[in-house]
Amino acid sequence: MALEDYKTALVTGASSGIGAAVVRDLAAAGKEVHAVARRQDRLEALAAETGCIPHVLDLRDQDALYETLGKIDTDILVNNAGLGRGFENFSTTPADEINLTIEVNVLSALHVVRACVGGMRERNCGHIFNIGSVAGLYPVNSTIYGASKGAVHLMSQNLRLELAGTGIRVTEVCPGRIETEFFGKAIDDEKLAAKMVSGFEVMQPEDISNAIMYAVGAPWRVNIGLIEMTPTEQHLGGGTITPAAGR
Ligand SMILES: NC(=O)c1ccc[n+]([C@@H]2O[C@H](COP(=O)([O-])OP(=O)(O)OC[C@H]3O[C@@H](n4cnc5c(N)ncnc54)[C@H](OP(=O)(O)O)[C@@H]3O)[C@@H](O)[C@H]2O)c1
Repeated sequence: MALEDYKTALVTGASSGIGAAVVRDLAAAGKEVHAVARRQDRLEALAAETGCIPHVLDLRDQDALYETLGKIDTDILVNNAGLGRGFENFSTTPADEINLTIEVNVLSALHVVRACVGGMRERNCGHIFNIGSVAGLYPVNSTIYGASKGAVHLMSQNLRLELAGTGIRVTEVCPGRIETEFFGKAIDDEKLAAKMVSGFEVMQPEDISNAIMYAVGAPWRVNIGLIEMTPTEQHLGGGTITPAAGR
């Protein structure tokens, strides 16, 4: 089982950023690619460009999610749709924005996997990519988003255990900053949003897609479990060394 054995791919959050880049690369690799998002105009443009099959769908609508995804024999799942609200201040973030972030990043992500994994198990064939974040691995000052991506991290790790022996591969991708529409939607203050992708050279959506294509193209005996990738000049972890007072 390897890239040439996978026939059909499903990419959520395909209307921009990472998702659109992955659709382009999987279509160029000859796969039948199903592209899911809410913005119809973007999906239609991508379909005209790549030949992908568009599905206009709000992933929070669980009935529609199962109805649409249940009809597709997905071999490669790129579980990518997501957003981040409340970066500025957890305590003042409206409750519905907390709920929205958790609903899409965690609940929808779980249901997307559930809608696809049954068929994968029956065919003993599949590769699941969950798009997490470095925010799910390290504290990066994002309480709500970090909570959602931390959930994606343990979902991926447990899924790999649960799927042992089925032949299905699971890869979690944890990127740092990428130049997409993400921060513009996440942060209301335009200057602050722009600052998140400036000051040093951030990654491009194609960089993440290249990593996904590497993992899906690896020989079947290889499962790339976790890809952590950051801009060369973005650093995480560590901290200030404070001399112990009085010692
Ligand atoms: N950009 C970064 O620095 C960064 C870093 C680490 C991880 N990530 C993660 O990467 C993933 C992709 O983000 P991106 O950077 O490519 O940002 P993006 O360009 O804003 O893409 C987000 C995608 O998610 C879709 N989406 C959002 N809510 C949806 C819903 N309810 N139903 C269906 N689709 C929905 C959007 O499509 P519609 O609006 O058309 O529905 C869009 O296609 C996210 O999971 C994000 O958390 C991003």
